[in-house]
Amino acid sequence: MNEQLLTGTLKINENNHLEIGGMDTAALAAKYGTPLYVYDVAQIRSKCRQFKAAFEKNDFSYQVAYASKAFSVLAIYQLIQEEGCSVDVVSGGELYTALKAGFPAEKIHFHGNNKTVAELTLALENKVGCIIVDNFYEIDLLNALTKERNQRVAVQLRTAPGINAHTHEYITTGQRDSKFGFDLENGQIDQAIQKVLENPLFDLIGVHCHIGSQIFETEAFTHTVDKMIGLLASWRDKYGYTAKVLNLGGGFGIRYTEADEPKEISDIIDAVCQEVVQKTGEYDYPVPEIWIEPGRSIVGDAGITLYETGSEKDIPGIRNYLAVDGGMSDNIRPALYDAAYTAVIANRATEPAEETYSIAGKCCESGDMLIWDIPLPKVNQKDILAVFSTGAYGYSMANNYNRIPRPAVVFVEDGEDALVVKRETYEDLIHLDQLI
Ligand SMILES: Cc1ncc(COP(=O)(O)O)c(C=O)c1O
Repeated sequence: MNEQLLTGTLKINENNHLEIGGMDTAALAAKYGTPLYVYDVAQIRSKCRQFKAAFEKNDFSYQVAYASKAFSVLAIYQLIQEEGCSVDVVSGGELYTALKAGFPAEKIHFHGNNKTVAELTLALENKVGCIIVDNFYEIDLLNALTKERNQRVAVQLRTAPGINAHTHEYITTGQRDSKFGFDLENGQIDQAIQKVLENPLFDLIGVHCHIGSQIFETEAFTHTVDKMIGLLASWRDKYGYTAKVLNLGGGFGIRYTEADEPKEISDIIDAVCQEVVQKTGEYDYPVPEIWIEPGRSIVGDAGITLYETGSEKDIPGIRNYLAVDGGMSDNIRPALYDAAYTAVIANRATEPAEETYSIAGKCCESGDMLIWDIPLPKVNQKDILAVFSTGAYGYSMANNYNRIPRPAVVFVEDGEDALVVKRETYEDLIHLDQLI
């Protein structure tokens, strides 16, 4: 296996087993059952610290807001708070989870392209740090709510800067043809700021953009900086408005397979900071605070999923299907985006590859495939298959298709394991159902 995939504390131990956070994965599978999400806490901490250190090295004011849609459970909000980051939430449910975890409301940023009155009210009641306003409908709703409550609120305007970050089109949210944010080119963003400036209860702290996900090109971010600072300079000239914050969103790429070559976090942030200094210098604009919203790059390669291998279907000359005890119910990304993953037999991690398998899930759906054509040692039934980099958008997109209970989630650090989400039971599956 490719050593590059052994990020964070992942390693192969003396028993030839995959180890994470000082814990043997075969032992974790035996203790908690499979499928099992396992998170390397040290790796999550390290990612938070790398982002923060990069801004500090550049002497920038900043906020690193973990985009909690990537993985939203009580324990991750606690961990992110320990690391001194902020969070962004995109729904009442994520907001509620963050608050229940004791996350300070002033460090919560609220996103979403169709926030409901109930969700906005929850955000206002709890005095979240900032609401990122997405559209005219939301400006009207918030106008009414702030006036009704006579409550001031910090807002940012989300813009779609029309930058193609060369990523999979389904997860690119920054192009012009996007459901998110105000268009930059057609004047909608200018209409939006004028509306926002009319309401004295809005404290417009700045502007937001998010150009896509799994981005490897640093230029996509620096080009965005250019566009956004150009926009801010035009707003100063037109409306006498100076922004405190430029929010560049998330999207920093990670390694899922050998084919991915992510840049160092510090290199990307250095380039962003240098571009901000350069462009603000050109416009003689005060350097704003830079906020970012990394999701995948904080939790993605900190997480692995352990499965038990089961049935095999060999179609000679065509394909050898190897099924595991999970699938699109715990990782829908391959079915949704053709996302690529790689894996290892965790209980025989150093054995050489002998066969090519395609890893199938157990759902009644032909598209329920986790990995196509992966070379592995000859697999036995009840081996443990560890899929790498499943920490982002795995558990958070998990579902009960085919009434499959969602797996448990375990955090590991320094040779200790902690159950942070229990495995769902069959009883959990029906607890909202009513007989007629
Ligand atoms: C507004 C916004 N911020 C941040 C993110 C996080 O992106 P990533 O997980 O790729 O860093 C997303 C992802 O969809 C987003 O829409």
